Amino acid sequence: MDGLKRHLNESVQLKLSFTLSLAILAVAIMAGVFSFLSAFDEAHELQDDVLRQVAHLMDRQRLSPSTPKIDPMLKDVDEESRVIVQRLGDSNPAGASVDAGGTLSLPTTLADGLHTLDIDGETFRVLVSTTAAGERIAVAQEAGFRNEIARDWALRTVMPFLILVPVLLLIVADLVRKMFQPIAALSKEIDQRAEQYLHPVEHGHLPVEVRPFAVAINRLLARVGQSMDSQRRFVADAAHELRSPLTAMSLQAERLADTEMSYMARERLTVLRQGIERGRGLLDQLLTLAKVQSATELPKSPVSVQAIYRRVLEDLMPLAEAKQIDIGVEGELDAEVWASELDMIALVKNLVDNAIRYTPEGGRVDISVGVSERKAVLRIQDSGPGITLAERDRVFNPFYRTLGSEQIGSGLGLSIVQTIANRIGAEIHLDFANEAQQTGLNVAVIVPMR
Ligand SMILES: Nc1ncnc2c1ncn2[C@@H]1O[C@H](COP(=O)(O)OP(=O)(O)O)[C@@H](O)[C@H]1O
Ligand SMILES: [Mg+2]
Repeated sequence: MDGLKRHLNESVQLKLSFTLSLAILAVAIMAGVFSFLSAFDEAHELQDDVLRQVAHLMDRQRLSPSTPKIDPMLKDVDEESRVIVQRLGDSNPAGASVDAGGTLSLPTTLADGLHTLDIDGETFRVLVSTTAAGERIAVAQEAGFRNEIARDWALRTVMPFLILVPVLLLIVADLVRKMFQPIAALSKEIDQRAEQYLHPVEHGHLPVEVRPFAVAINRLLARVGQSMDSQRRFVADAAHELRSPLTAMSLQAERLADTEMSYMARERLTVLRQGIERGRGLLDQLLTLAKVQSATELPKSPVSVQAIYRRVLEDLMPLAEAKQIDIGVEGELDAEVWASELDMIALVKNLVDNAIRYTPEGGRVDISVGVSERKAVLRIQDSGPGITLAERDRVFNPFYRTLGSEQIGSGLGLSIVQTIANRIGAEIHLDFANEAQQTGLNVAVIVPMR
């Protein structure tokens, strides 16, 4: 019972159907009872009228009931509706039953008028009247006859309601479902949105009752958008502000490196310079992340993937060479994706940068592009340690770095990649490059083409 109560409270559809069917059922029962009672009265009236008419007829026609005798023909007459006319006090031939033509055993003391009598287990409606000739006659009919009429009438009244209930329930269910469809569609649309899409939801097509709710959501989205924008601006401004002093420090350190110093001092200076470089790398990544997270859509155009690869390799080749990493683009096949060139460069650069950084010296990085189902598949495979299954979701979180990675880094690269992928409608898959040994990272980015 509690379960039903809880369901009723939770579902408008169920509540509406339940309430409506209860209402219909109540109306049906009331109508049924009312019509049964009125039909019953009607039937009573009707039967009494019939008895009176017969008595009246007997009187007017100066008819007298015949002497009772056994009559086999009577068996075919419908006993329920049969009208029995007899003189009060008539004896019953050989105790014959009424059905065979015998008389009703009526007390002669019966007063004139209508009576309901139980005779031999059957209920009869009896009209006793004294004819003009002074004869006391009884006109009788089974009471069951009127009850049957009343029952039929009542059933006929209730029947439409019984058909109406399921039909109305279906209509209500369908109506409520249709009414809630726009809401279901809206929640699905909101569910599928990436976090940076905070534009207001359409509410013109929603039921009036729900619109205030949608307006409230829009207001919330606007507030969230503003606070995210101000946060992003803060991060970007902070990164900007920090950039020039850090650049100055790195320049200072470079100039210091040119001066004479002890071995210890040079050691310390190297660590200092690495720290400064890490800081500068972090700032760059923060700025890039703030930029790609901002809602402003960069203009999209057909972008050649091979061209992007060439640009990125130009930038990162020194890093790869420094680690003697064998890096190259496999195959000539090119594909044109529909995206902003800047986005594509930032996406590919972060992935190739990771592949180079996390692949040990002398390792290998293969870059390729393929096309399947009208989508370009950008693939970057390396011979590094790879990323375990457990960590594959977390590495996309800002500032997340896998334990034990000696490489300097900010932990922002993959979250920049994820944000750009969301924006251009791309999917990212991480697998091991070598499934058997569970090593190496095989990154596939599936990007829609025009
Ligand atoms: N190609 C890769 N091979 C192994 N581990 C990787 C690779 N790319 C990323 N990772 C892991 O994922 C983490 C997050 O990467 P990323 O967001 O680019 O941050 P960062 O490179 O600045 O550390 C890295 O710290 C590293 O542990
Ligand atoms: Mg990185």
